Amino acid sequence: MNRMFAFHGVDGKTGTTMVAQSVAETIAAADKEIKVMMVSLNGRSGTEYVDRVGESIEGLKMYLDNKVLSKKVLEQSCKYTENLFLLAGVESLGQSRHYFPETAIYFLNRIEEEFDVIIADTGNDLDNGLAVGALERIPERFCILTQQESMLKRYESIESLYRKLGIDFSCYVVNKYSDEDPYSLGYISERLKIPQKQLKKIQAVSYGRQAEMDYRTLLFYKDKIYNQDILEIANVILLKCNMNTIQEQRKKKWIPFI
Ligand SMILES: Nc1ncnc2c1ncn2[C@@H]1O[C@H](COP(=O)(O)OP(=O)(O)OP(=O)(O)O)[C@@H](O)[C@H]1O
Ligand SMILES: [Mg+2]
Repeated sequence: MNRMFAFHGVDGKTGTTMVAQSVAETIAAADKEIKVMMVSLNGRSGTEYVDRVGESIEGLKMYLDNKVLSKKVLEQSCKYTENLFLLAGVESLGQSRHYFPETAIYFLNRIEEEFDVIIADTGNDLDNGLAVGALERIPERFCILTQQESMLKRYESIESLYRKLGIDFSCYVVNKYSDEDPYSLGYISERLKIPQKQLKKIQAVSYGRQAEMDYRTLLFYKDKIYNQDILEIANVILLKCNMNTIQEQRKKKWIPFI
């Protein structure tokens, strides 16, 4: 059974980190029994929306290179809440080229049995070793895009590269979505030849920059539509993991954010 999911952006600033972390937080908050790991496997630290930074892939490099990463080191250094574990990526500028796909593959193999749900933020750069390794190792991939013409163009121009690398996506997420935008889901589906049922949206909310300043995900601002859209993605993941979806658990009590 698969329990690993990669979130990959068509380009920068599409909201890949925000969506991946919001989904991880939603799953972890819904059921404390589910151990969730959110890891940044790309050339950035991916810590824009956390108020404290714990361990990073860079900090664990010695363990990863020597293949001696223990459960104890991992759990102690990544614990963020009771059942949510966060691992940052590569923090120092210019260092990401020292990481190769094998490192991401070793890391994911090592943690696969330790967590119930693993969410990897693979950024948007296919030139990055960690991202390529993670995309190769994780078959369930979510592609993050927006309604902008530049994003659709970018997808069209790199689609053949995705195909060459054997990367296909099980779900496409149109983030920062607005009903008023002329690029409707129907149009995007038709233009990019993506079946409608593989296409999801996440509402644009007005707290994007606020979230950066507060070091929190957008869940914190309790926008009903945003939180519901994130919940739907979380449920897609829970279903693929053979776990109860959040609507069912909600009848008991669902805490919408951490
Ligand atoms: N649904 C949304 N509505 C409004 N703002 C959003 C939404 N999703 C993300 N944002 C905002 O968009 C900006 C970029 O988000 P994020 O850092 O997640 O993008 P990214 O694709 O990971 O970027 P990078 O290329 O730096 O890795 C942030 O200001 C974030 O708050
Ligand atoms: Mg990011």
